[in-house]
Amino acid sequence: MEQTLSIIKPDAMERNLEGKIKSILKKNNFEIVKEKKVKLEKKDVEEFYKVHETKPFYNDLCNYLSSGPVLVMVLKKENAIAENRKIMGATNPKEADPGTIRKEFGISIDKNSVHGSDSKENAKKEINFFFKD
Ligand code: CMP
Repeated sequence: MEQTLSIIKPDAMERNLEGKIKSILKKNNFEIVKEKKVKLEKKDVEEFYKVHETKPFYNDLCNYLSSGPVLVMVLKKENAIAENRKIMGATNPKEADPGTIRKEFGISIDKNSVHGSDSKENAKKEINFFFKD
């Protein structure tokens, strides 16, 4: 069994999509092991997305993720990291496959509704970032 970190981003929280996204996760046999709703400070987001600090979109990304509450979850399933990325769809909702979360709910590459860890190493780091115990 593998664990991954999932975040429901401000655009989806604002549109009350939390329940719909969680039911997609459950339908796809993910167990939500831990969850918490948080309003992040910009400095927390800067640390979380440090891997992107040299990218041109870094500042906008950090402003956006700290603009409203998010729901942070630890998901558990066999191959959870890849399976979650499959149901999330491509980063840019315009390029995401039909039926994926980002195709269904994403508004733009920034407001793409969900985040999911992209590797075992990052999943471990990201889970530890939010759930230190
Ligand atoms: P996420 O999977 O949370 O990881 C970093 C985020 O940066 C990504 O989703 C996008 O919402 C955002 N982003 C904005 N512009 C880009 C871009 N050109 N390439 C990748 N990610 C981008």
